[in-house]
Amino acid sequence: MKDFNYYAPTEVVFGRDSESKVGELVRKYQGTKVLVHYGGQSAERSGLLDTVFHSLESNGIDYVKLGGVVPNPRVAKVREGIALCRKEHVDFILAVGGGSVIDSAKAIAIGVPYEGDVWDFYLRKAVATTCLPVATVLTIPAAGSEMSNGSVITNDEGKLKKDYGTDMFRCKFALMNPELTFTLPPYQTACGVVDIMMHTMERYFSHEDDMEVTDGIAESILRTMKEMAFKVLHTPNDYVSRAQIMWAGSLAHNDLTGCGTVGDWSTHRLEHELSGMFDVAHGAGLASIWGSWARAVYKMRPTRFARFAVNVMGVSNNFNSPEQTALAGIEAMERFYHAIDMPISIPELIGRPATEEEILTMARICSENDSYSIGAFKALNMQDMVEIYR
Ligand code: NZQ
Ligand code: ZN
Repeated sequence: MKDFNYYAPTEVVFGRDSESKVGELVRKYQGTKVLVHYGGQSAERSGLLDTVFHSLESNGIDYVKLGGVVPNPRVAKVREGIALCRKEHVDFILAVGGGSVIDSAKAIAIGVPYEGDVWDFYLRKAVATTCLPVATVLTIPAAGSEMSNGSVITNDEGKLKKDYGTDMFRCKFALMNPELTFTLPPYQTACGVVDIMMHTMERYFSHEDDMEVTDGIAESILRTMKEMAFKVLHTPNDYVSRAQIMWAGSLAHNDLTGCGTVGDWSTHRLEHELSGMFDVAHGAGLASIWGSWARAVYKMRPTRFARFAVNVMGVSNNFNSPEQTALAGIEAMERFYHAIDMPISIPELIGRPATEEEILTMARICSENDSYSIGAFKALNMQDMVEIYR
């Protein structure tokens, strides 16, 4: 079991009507002029934005608005937000939405006090030393950005999708009302479930085998997500099931399920290239690549995959070898993805096979021109990446 440092400073206010407390909380965290940042239409259509504005106004807090964040948020919108915040002397960024809006808000928050271009951070050319406070009203459980230290931004120039992480990105507070997620379409719901499970699995597939508490939490999250996915796809307004998914989304990515383990993160790395190249939903991209990753690496530690098969996927333990049990678990996971209408290959993801040129480009970017390997469960070089994409 590895030593660890667990830091999860975000104040979570969970439950019905929590969004109406936003003004009170901004005041508590000393915001005086807020940027309300949001996406396309969902927050406006549901009336959530009006609730947020009303709560800010009744607490005497001034604000400006910037909508239009798209899934796989773009650096161009981040730059627009930085300019607006400087002009309006904003001192607090409030994201009303999901991972894309929160990540865009975080990028704005480090960009405002920085003299250079914000993309420098994502290219590892600069290190953030100061950041405006960020908080969120969450509308989709998936990315876990409401408690994570990360932000993932896409630059259309070069189709690059890059992440940056700092503890300064941790939200001051996250307001989570499961009722706000009733309007999620089945596809976004399923993508969210995949992402939540994958944040858990990236940390679970580890060579550390002796952290029973962490494994127990991880397996419970994974089993619960499998069950709740079917419930909410069948009954979108099932509050209790939506609530399990929402809370799991935060626990899966606030590092709790990584205490004592070493995360792998290859599936995420490989997926970021898919999103960068094809602008697909992150969760669907993860589902499309995971089975190929798992088959490429499970022999490094078949017993770990066999444990997953039995404890999470409900596979019987009657096989002759851990390898067979492991493979049965991988197949069961792919059947689950199909059952919630998620792809298990790139052709299923984008409607056609990726070309060799596209595969090589993704592997080249991911491996930094064949100079860098990814993954801790098994290190993968550029050729391994090519084979997984194929
Ligand atoms: O734009 P609107 O109209 O709001 O529609 C959104 C969007 O189209 C819609 N939506 C959100 N809440 C809704 C709703 N529709 C109906 N009812 C609601 N209540 O859902 C669509 C997807 O939203 P998005 O924010 O893109 O989804 P998600 O939360 O999955 O975020 C994905 C992004 O997060 C990044 C991903 O790479 C991707 O860019 N990630 C961020 C991480 C982090 N910061 O820690 C970690 C993750 O691994 C991930 O990489
Ligand atoms: Zn993810």
